[in-house]
Amino acid sequence: DWTMAGYRQQAIDAIREQVGDAHVICGLSGGVDSSVTAILLHEAIGDQLTCVFVDHGLLRMNEADEVVTMFRDHYNIKLIHADESELFLGELEGVTDPEVKRKTIGRLFIDVFQKYANQIEDAEFLAQGTLYPDVIESVSFSGGPSVTIKSHHNVGGLPEKMGLKLVEPLRELFKDEVRALGHELGLPASFIGRHPFPGPGLAIRCPGEITRDKLEILRKADAVYIDQIRKHGLYDEIWQAFVAILPVRTVGVMGDGRTYDYACALRAVTSVDGMTADYYPFSHEFLGETATRIINEVKGINRVTYDITSKPPGTIEWE
Ligand code: XMP
Repeated sequence: DWTMAGYRQQAIDAIREQVGDAHVICGLSGGVDSSVTAILLHEAIGDQLTCVFVDHGLLRMNEADEVVTMFRDHYNIKLIHADESELFLGELEGVTDPEVKRKTIGRLFIDVFQKYANQIEDAEFLAQGTLYPDVIESVSFSGGPSVTIKSHHNVGGLPEKMGLKLVEPLRELFKDEVRALGHELGLPASFIGRHPFPGPGLAIRCPGEITRDKLEILRKADAVYIDQIRKHGLYDEIWQAFVAILPVRTVGVMGDGRTYDYACALRAVTSVDGMTADYYPFSHEFLGETATRIINEVKGINRVTYDITSKPPGTIEWE
C-alpha cells in the first residue's frame, strides 16, 4: 500500500535512473516546492546537485540568511547565493508600472540564473518544482482565449534556451502531498507551512517607485505584522498575509511633534487556491494592537490601514 516513505524512495530511484552521473542545477526560492525538489534531489544524487538562489533584493527580512543557513549549513547542499540586488534595484529605478516591474524582474532573473548556471560544469539537467496542477493547467489553458491580469514571471523556455533537460520530481503531486513529502524529508514546519510569496517579491507590495528606503520600512513593518499573526496563533488560518507600503505620506502626531511619514496597508486573506479570496476577519483588538506596534516600532510609518477587499474584485497583491 501507498506511503509517503515509499513514494520518497521511488522518487529517488527515478531521479538516479534519469540523471545518471550528470550534474543538475536547481533554482531555489525558499518556497515549499523548490525546497522539497532540492532536498529530494540532494538525497538522490548528493554533490551532483547545485542550487542557485537568486537574491533580487526584494526579499523579506532575514529571508536570504534563512534560506542559505537551511540549505547550505543544515542540509549541506551546494548552494550559490546569487546576491544581485544592485542589478535588480538599479534596473527598477524609476519604474512604477506593475507589469513593467514584473517583466524587468523576470528578464533579469533569467539572465542572472543563466549566468550562474553557465559556471557549473557538466550541467545537463535543470530541476523544477512543477506540481500536478501546473501540468494540467498548462494543458487545459493552452490555445483558448485568455485575459492576462498579471504576467506571472516564470522560467518557461529556460531549459531549451540553455540546452538542459528537465527533472521534475513533483510532477505527480498536489500541494498537500508536497508538504507531506517535505515533512518526510525533515523540512521544518516553518518552511512547509509558509505563506506563498510572489516571484517579484516586495516589488509588487511597493506600489509606485521602489526605493531602498521604502523597502527597508516595508521589511520592518511586515516583520512586526507577521510576528503579531504568529503570536496570536493565526498564521495557519491565513492563506497569505503581508504589508504593502503606500506611495503616499500622511500627517500624524507623536509626542508633541508633527510627523509626515508613509501610510501602509495590512493584507490578510483566506483562500483555497489563490484564485478567489476573502479578507481575514481580524478582531478590532488585534488590528489596533498591530497598528500601535507598527507605528511605535517602525520609523517611517505613521498610519496603518486594513485592506478589506476580497478577490474578486481585488487581487491578493496590490499590483
Ligand atoms: P493575485 O495578486 O493575482 O495573486 O490575486 C494570486 C497569487 O499569486 C501570487 N502572485 C504572483 N506569484 N509572480 C508570482 O510568482 C507574480 O508575478 C505574482 N503575482 C501574484 C500572489 O502572491 C498570490 O499568492
